[in-house]
Amino acid sequence: MSEHIAFVVNGERREADVEPRRLLVEMLREDLGLTGTHVGCDTSQCGACTVHVDSAAVKSCTMLAVQADGTSITTIEGMAAGEALHPLQTAFWEKHGLQCGFCTPGMIMAAADLLGRTADPTDDEIRHAIQGNICRCTGYQNIVIAIRAAGAAVRAGASLAPGSATAAPATAAPATAAN
Ligand code: FES
Ligand code: FES
Repeated sequence: MSEHIAFVVNGERREADVEPRRLLVEMLREDLGLTGTHVGCDTSQCGACTVHVDSAAVKSCTMLAVQADGTSITTIEGMAAGEALHPLQTAFWEKHGLQCGFCTPGMIMAAADLLGRTADPTDDEIRHAIQGNICRCTGYQNIVIAIRAAGAAVRAGASLAPGSATAAPATAAPATAAN
């Protein structure tokens, strides 16, 4: 038996029929094709599946799709403005805050939640905010530097809102929304 739900994702109103046991991350990736949200563990450990639900960071493998009824969801695909990167994506690119990029969508969504609460976090606050996000590549230091840089950009006037753009890097865009 399916439940009919309606929600907004990346600014677009959507409806879906979902089984009560279906996870939000499954609906995003498999039903809506939003594969920038990754699945690293399915057990609430890695944070690769982090999205925003009503502006708060949520691990989408911990939430049922039916619980998204009536909410507004933002995924990594909603952060850039077309080809122009969101300030957090620009900071990760410029500060080398990624290597393989698998953790990056979740890291950016967790960081956006943090910077939405404070644009001038300490390094301890940054590390606390991403403690639920596992990166197997970077050693975290450049991620912390990138989030710090994005905070500086926000304090200088950049917007964190989804769809807010900074100038794109001269080279190819990072794989922040890859499968
Ligand atoms: Fe959700 Fe790992 S896939 S926390
Ligand atoms: Fe590879 Fe973080 S950049 S897992």
